[in-house]
Amino acid sequence: MLRTHTCGELRKTNVSKKVVLTGWVGHIRVFGRKAFIDIRDRYGITQLVLDEKFKDIYTNLPKESVIVASGKVTNRKEVNNKIETGEIEVMVDTLVISSKASPLPFEMFSPEIESLEETRLKYRYLDLRRPKMLRMLEFRFKAEMIIRNYLSLKNFIEVETPYIGRPTPEGSRDFLVPSRTFPGKFWALLQSPQQYKQLLMVAGIDRYFQITRCYRDEDLRKDRQYEFTQIDMEMSFVDESDVIKISEGLISILYSQLLGIKLKKPFKRMTWEEAMNKYGSDKPDIRFNIPLLDFTNSFENSGLRIFENEIKKGGVVKTIFIPELLKRSEIRELESVVKRRSFPGLAWIKSSEELSGSILSAVSDSLKKKFVKNKGTYLMLCGEWNKVCIALGEVRLKLGEKLDLRKGREFVWITDFPMFEISEQDKKITAVHHPFTSPSKETVQKLFTDLSEGELLKIPARAYDLVLNGSEIGGGSIRITEKTLQEKVFEILGINKDEAHEKFGMLLNAFEYGVPPHGGIAFGLDRLLQIMLDVDSIRDVIAFPKSKSGRALMEDAPNNADKKTLSELEFTQKGDCGV
Ligand code: AMO
Repeated sequence: MLRTHTCGELRKTNVSKKVVLTGWVGHIRVFGRKAFIDIRDRYGITQLVLDEKFKDIYTNLPKESVIVASGKVTNRKEVNNKIETGEIEVMVDTLVISSKASPLPFEMFSPEIESLEETRLKYRYLDLRRPKMLRMLEFRFKAEMIIRNYLSLKNFIEVETPYIGRPTPEGSRDFLVPSRTFPGKFWALLQSPQQYKQLLMVAGIDRYFQITRCYRDEDLRKDRQYEFTQIDMEMSFVDESDVIKISEGLISILYSQLLGIKLKKPFKRMTWEEAMNKYGSDKPDIRFNIPLLDFTNSFENSGLRIFENEIKKGGVVKTIFIPELLKRSEIRELESVVKRRSFPGLAWIKSSEELSGSILSAVSDSLKKKFVKNKGTYLMLCGEWNKVCIALGEVRLKLGEKLDLRKGREFVWITDFPMFEISEQDKKITAVHHPFTSPSKETVQKLFTDLSEGELLKIPARAYDLVLNGSEIGGGSIRITEKTLQEKVFEILGINKDEAHEKFGMLLNAFEYGVPPHGGIAFGLDRLLQIMLDVDSIRDVIAFPKSKSGRALMEDAPNNADKKTLSELEFTQKGDCGV
């Protein structure tokens, strides 16, 4: 080794020792005939003391250069309690600049640096030198060690599955990779190992896990990346409670070993319907208690025509009540949330000394009494149940943020998701989770009867999501393993037999040869770490993430491919497949 110690290692017990330190140059302070240089590496900072004979070097030494310094450890006159090596310093006798740094593109240690994300991503190798980012990488690595350790002790084995496979039209959009050897054909970067992990169950690997990369070509958000990491798990001969128990054990051990926090088990559970009804979301943030209240009955004969008409058509009235008296401008701000969801505005009533509000004049006296009871603001929406719940759920979140109510940590399992939904894009029936998710035991038979669309949408699935502070950190299900049931589900989804075999033949064929009942879950590792580390964006827990706008700023990607590669792929630069 070039060094005898790291920059975070030396203490009083090392005084008088001859040492060699290597690292990056931090602060340089010159006092009279001496210079004090902070030398920094992954482990910490040590103060070097240089006398005048080094003057030519230290007056010409750019920050962030890499140096090798040797010298003797001495007691420090003015102890610096802020750093672990603060009781000592090293009197340098030789100093070598092993790599001189150019002027830095940004001030790495200024507080403003946090807000210059594009710059940080462009020079990520400099950004990662910052202790905060180094701690993040260490934290992530430790988390992965704990996961592997915990699951292997529970008899899981980690199996690597392919990253490139058959394109699928299901779920999110695939990243496609043109095949050179089979011109005109495509590989997809896989969205998850879903089918492979189920094949591993057929193969008899009854407890599988993998810390694996997944690829989805979706629009990026604060908690979304094109490529992200899942803790993917699958188990045979289990039901929901087994998967949930192992998952709670895993999350709890991560919290206790990484943060010293003991989580209360079992975690809360809530059905999808309750979550939608009470919080207007399938990933409710239950850290604050502002429930969506049902006022439909109260408005049935209220005198308010628009509401009455909606209710007659099967609509609902949902209300949020808060004890604060919101200003008109604040209500307007909240209204912008529901306008984005095609509602004309929010109906509101304020109850203080007297009542005031947008719908007050049209409301009957008897209904007014309901609002007098509690002083505060009532915000209301009327319309189709799911649309009202979702829009008011978003208002609720905005209020939680505005009133600073999102404190602490709340896990909740969401269960009994519906099997099917109508897709927003093509208005067709699609699987909420994926087509291999089993319907609830009680409804299996029902699926084989002639069901209306309305009845189909009510069939619950054996699917579960784990939600933490309003973020979906994991999701999974018990899978279908019966051929006839799987065929029925495909039929409902409008996938005929030939199509099913074309798309999912790999799995369906395997199921012909003895398939154990099985189920599993996948956690979004990046999202979980983002919340554990309490950072604003998923990008802050990934070494080399894509930027907000979905670019790799260091290497300037995506970018053109060279002509030779394209011609081998029989592509033109525009991306038209020449085949
Ligand atoms: P699902 O699609 O719900 O399930 O994904 C599991 C978890 O992965 C995380 N996640 C993401 N994280 C960051 N960026 C993204 N673009 C992104 N998309 C998803 C979420 C999510 O809960 N194969 C099934 C699991 C199963 O059924 O076992 C699956 O992939 O935290």
